[in-house]
Amino acid sequence: MSTNTDTSTPMPAQPPNHFLTVDDLSPEGLESVLDLASTYKHQLGAGESHADLAGKTMAMLFEKPSTRTRVSFETGMTQLGGHAIFLGPDDTQLGRGEPLKDTSRALSGYVDVIMARLFDHSDLEELAAYADVPVVNGLTDDAHPCQTLADLLTMKELFGGLDGVKAAWVGDGNNVAQSFAVGCAMAGVDLTVATPEGYELDDETLETAESYTGTVETTTDPEVAVADADVVYTDVWVSMGQEAERDEKLAAFDGYQLNGDLLADSDAYVMHCLPAHRGEEVDDETVEGEHSVVWQQAENRLHAQKALMSTLVNGY
Ligand code: CP
Ligand code: NVA
Repeated sequence: MSTNTDTSTPMPAQPPNHFLTVDDLSPEGLESVLDLASTYKHQLGAGESHADLAGKTMAMLFEKPSTRTRVSFETGMTQLGGHAIFLGPDDTQLGRGEPLKDTSRALSGYVDVIMARLFDHSDLEELAAYADVPVVNGLTDDAHPCQTLADLLTMKELFGGLDGVKAAWVGDGNNVAQSFAVGCAMAGVDLTVATPEGYELDDETLETAESYTGTVETTTDPEVAVADADVVYTDVWVSMGQEAERDEKLAAFDGYQLNGDLLADSDAYVMHCLPAHRGEEVDDETVEGEHSVVWQQAENRLHAQKALMSTLVNGY
């Protein structure tokens, strides 16, 4: 007779095929990935190896530049006993017009996982639709879910858990913001988002977030967002590919900078996915200040993505 009296939601037997948005994981799957990330981080610190992807190879396709994503994924594969291949915009036949669907099927015959940083999210969906191996979103114009894994891991470390933590987003309702909003909702974090009119989170993000336990409130007032927040998060106002909108966006975001004035009455930790544009969305004193956790976030990209890759390839 079974003695198992655990009535909590069981972990799905298999992880999702791909990780294109945060909610490709279930809330339980997300928790499992964050737990494994903490384990890997601890093991790495203790000098214990964890070659869970020994002999496995990842292809990394980049249409846009990167520091953290490229280096953390490549280092992560090395630490897991595997290998990663960097493919920049000029390194493949994609640059000479080979269709993504052909690239996807060819790469699937060689590698065990594909990570891609692309402009159009629909291109990533096409890549995934034709791939026989897991595809991971390394950032698109719409989403940056791997960043969210690192952000939630960082917040878990800061607060010992996530349920009931209060977060604020101040600035552009961009790719990083949209993934963060869904991730917060899935993890039980209550988020208030302050954006100027015309730069809000899209409706799909808000609808997705509504189906989870954390709440997402919206405002145009940064002071409303940061009041009572445990963490305050921002990102660049001009994302990669938006350079032509620079003047218009800088004007629209006037008053949305994270600085000593906005945070005068706040003890919140300050988060930024990096790279930071000091003097625009945040000032130098705030990035370098005692409440800043941006380097912890950056390091956690490594641990969180190792856990994600291991889970997608090997299961929970
Ligand atoms: N945060 C982030 O994705 O940084 P990179 O653009 O350097 O990869
Ligand atoms: N929103 C930024 C994030 C960079 C990591 C961009 O897309 O350029």
